[in-house]
Amino acid sequence: MRAVVYDRYGPPEVLRIENIERPVPAEDEVLVKVHATTVNRFDTATREANRRSGLAISLMSRLVSGLRRPRHRILGTEFAGEVEAVAAATSEFSVGDRVFGTSGLRFGAHAEYISMPVRGRIAHMPTGMSFEEAAPICDGALNALTCLKQADLHPGRTILIYGASGAIGTAGVQLAKSFGAEVTAVCNAKSLELVRSIGADRVIDYTQEDFTKNGQRYDVILDAVGKLSFRRCRGSLAPSGIFLPTDGLGNLIWALTTRRSKGKRVLFQIPPRQTKQDVLFLKALIEAGKYRPVIDRRYRLEDVIEATRYVETEQKVGNVVLTV
Ligand SMILES: NC(=O)c1ccc[n+]([C@@H]2O[C@H](COP(=O)([O-])OP(=O)(O)OC[C@H]3O[C@@H](n4cnc5c(N)ncnc54)[C@H](OP(=O)(O)O)[C@@H]3O)[C@@H](O)[C@H]2O)c1
Repeated sequence: MRAVVYDRYGPPEVLRIENIERPVPAEDEVLVKVHATTVNRFDTATREANRRSGLAISLMSRLVSGLRRPRHRILGTEFAGEVEAVAAATSEFSVGDRVFGTSGLRFGAHAEYISMPVRGRIAHMPTGMSFEEAAPICDGALNALTCLKQADLHPGRTILIYGASGAIGTAGVQLAKSFGAEVTAVCNAKSLELVRSIGADRVIDYTQEDFTKNGQRYDVILDAVGKLSFRRCRGSLAPSGIFLPTDGLGNLIWALTTRRSKGKRVLFQIPPRQTKQDVLFLKALIEAGKYRPVIDRRYRLEDVIEATRYVETEQKVGNVVLTV
C-alpha cells in the first residue's frame, strides 16, 4: 500500500511516499481502507519532536514517540473510510461499513489502510456525510471536549474561546453552544463571519480589541490555540472562573498549584482522556445538527508536504484534509 513515512524528526521534507506492507489486523481489530485523513497540529508537532515548544517539551515528546527516531513511521491520526476486513470476534462492524475515528498515539492514518482496535476510537460515520467531511471530526472536537467537560457548561454560564478559528476553536464554539453556554469567540477579522455562523453569540477581533482590557468577566476561558497564559487572562475570569489551556508547560504548573483553590483555577488534563464514548457522542451531536467540522483546505495524499507546510503556518481555519 502507499503510505507517507518518515524515519527521522525534522522539517516537512522528511516525509515521503513509500510502498509498504498493508497492516495485518489483530484478533480485536478491523482493517480500514482510508479514503480521507487530515494533517493536524499533533502530526506536525510529533514530526518535529515538538522542537518549537522548547527543550523540556521536546524531550517529553521523544520519550513518547521514540527517543532517537520515530517509533511509528506513519503519521496521521484521523481517518474516514470503509471496513476492509473484520476481526472474528467483533459483531460491531462488517466489511463495507463506513467508519471514522482517530488512532491517537498509534498514528498510521496517512496510508491507504489502517488497522484499528474495535474498542478504540472508531465508529460508524454519521449519516449523510462524505469521507472528506468525516475525517476531521475527531481531533479538534475531542481536544475541545476534554477541556470543556471539566468546566460544567450549562445555560447561564459564559465562556470566552480564544483562537476560535482553529481546529479546537471551531469545535469548541459548537460544543460550548450545544451545552447551552453563552459563547464569546476571539479570532482574526477574516474569521469573524465563520465563527458567528457556527454559533458564537459575540465575537471579538483580536487585532482591534484586547479582551483582557475591556472589563468583561467570564465563567470559563478556553485558550484553543495555546497563546494565552493564566496570568494574562485571570483578570477576565469571574471570581471562581476556570481557565482551560490546550498547551504550555507553565499552564501545567498553574493547574497543579490552583487545583484546590476555591477561587480562579486552571484545569489541564494531561494526558487527555478520550474514549470511544466521546466519539459516539460527537457522531450523535453531528446527527442532531449541532456540530460540523470546519474544513479549510483539501490536498491529495501525495501533496502531504505542501499540506504540512500550510498547517505549520498556524493559520489554518478549522481543518486540513488529505484525500487518499
Ligand atoms: N490539534 C491537536 O492535536 C492538539 C493537541 C493538543 C494540543 N494542541 C495545541 O492546541 C493548539 C491549537 O490546536 P489547533 O489544531 O486547534 O490549531 P490550529 O487549527 O492550527 O489553529 C490555527 C488558528 O489559530 C488562530 N490563531 C493563531 N494565532 C492566534 C492568536 N495569537 N490569537 C488568536 N488566534 C490565533 C489562527 O487564526 P489567525 O492566525 O488568522 O488569527 C488559526 O485560525 C496548539 O497550540 C496545539 O499545539 C493541539
